[in-house]
Amino acid sequence: MRDPSADDLLTWYDRHARVLPWRVSPADRRVGVMPDPYRVWLSEIMLQQTTVAAVKAYFERFTTLWPTVAGLAAAQDAAVMGEWAGLGYYARARNLLKGARAVVAEHGGRFPETRDGLLTLPGVGPYTASAVAAIAFDRPETVVDGNVERVMARVFRVETPLPAAKGELTALAARLTPRERPGDYAQAVMDLGATVCTPRSPACGICPWMEGCRARAVGVQAELPLKAAK
Ligand code: ADE
Repeated sequence: MRDPSADDLLTWYDRHARVLPWRVSPADRRVGVMPDPYRVWLSEIMLQQTTVAAVKAYFERFTTLWPTVAGLAAAQDAAVMGEWAGLGYYARARNLLKGARAVVAEHGGRFPETRDGLLTLPGVGPYTASAVAAIAFDRPETVVDGNVERVMARVFRVETPLPAAKGELTALAARLTPRERPGDYAQAVMDLGATVCTPRSPACGICPWMEGCRARAVGVQAELPLKAAK
């Protein structure tokens, strides 16, 4: 059986990546253009408890009003809270402002480039720190969200229920993370989970990891990951 590889997933991503406003365009990506850390950070904060579909318009509006972290840091609190209305979880908006002001006041307007550095910013927890370090700075950090847990549980046929399986799924995800293009890889797993390896009827026929998928080999892909009874 062919093992799932980062390379196979990256090849798929180069052709099928979702075009999202915080991403670099495929043509730019091919010539090595990196995304703006401010836009990556802003998108990850917005995406914490909100879907991609809902975030898009807010992201466009915020980056039009405040194209840089310095601009956002200088904004009136009420203006930012007002633009956030509808996204929910308002603590995120307050932390967003605190984070922007910390970048300006404590880091000269430039985002820290490591996971540990990013963790010092208000509102940035382990998930967001890993995501920004990988996506904006190509650090080999592993990004694990619900999509990634589902993909790992299926590809490696992990039958331990969530949440107990989290540690194992994180370790499997870390093992697959490549040293080259870890940011694209992180987004590729998210895209795979969102568009192919979906919760109910995964589209295994178009999956770049189909051949190596342990769950698919025995037909249990749609049942994984298992969840502990509440
Ligand atoms: N969800 C969280 N971060 C994301 C990203 N960078 N792209 C797509 N979906 C995401």
